[in-house]
Amino acid sequence: MDSSTDLICLSYCSTASFASAPRGFGVDPEVTRILVHSRRNNKRRNVGGVLHFGNGYFFQYLEGPADVVDGLYARICRDERHHDVRRLTRRPIRTRRFEHWSMKFVAIERIVGDVLQRHGMAQFDPYRFTPALIDDLVVSCIHGDDDAPAARPEPQPRQRSSGPGLWNRLFGRR
Ligand SMILES: Cc1cc2nc3c(=O)[nH]c(=O)nc-3n(C[C@H](O)[C@H](O)[C@H](O)COP(=O)(O)O)c2cc1C
Repeated sequence: MDSSTDLICLSYCSTASFASAPRGFGVDPEVTRILVHSRRNNKRRNVGGVLHFGNGYFFQYLEGPADVVDGLYARICRDERHHDVRRLTRRPIRTRRFEHWSMKFVAIERIVGDVLQRHGMAQFDPYRFTPALIDDLVVSCIHGDDDAPAARPEPQPRQRSSGPGLWNRLFGRR
């Protein structure tokens, strides 16, 4: 039994309720909105992780204090932008893997393709992900490129003054 402030990681998958933009048009606008909002919230709440979107499916890995992650997951489950949310893993961790990422985004065409191949899976179907595949995927994502840099509020440049910097103003932060 973990205490409410112990670090945990939790992963789940779900199916998007919106029709995704045709491939080749970059990150889907609805996914970009989710990312921008998540990055702002997660940074404040000390949550990190990675989000994947492909074939109309989401896969998300979250890490942070147990009470915060569990609370966030409960909110995410109620979000109408997706359905059939299924928790895949939840376990205590000693250290964070996404220390510097409030929510990284990696498209399936990149790292995910290699990982799926290694685990004998032809398509991105997170409902069939095994704990071993999830671990492989998460480790591979730590060093992979973020596909949604436009929505990325970090890493932030050092601020020289104590007032709000250009970067923070752009992203609506104080
Ligand atoms: C696939 C998916 C992933 C999401 N991930 C996060 C997340 O990491 N952090 C977050 O704050 N909200 C996330 N959301 C949004 C939440 O469901 C919810 O709308 C949001 O937390 C409410 O934010 P608020 O407290 O600022 O109103 C996600 C939504 C979806 C559909």
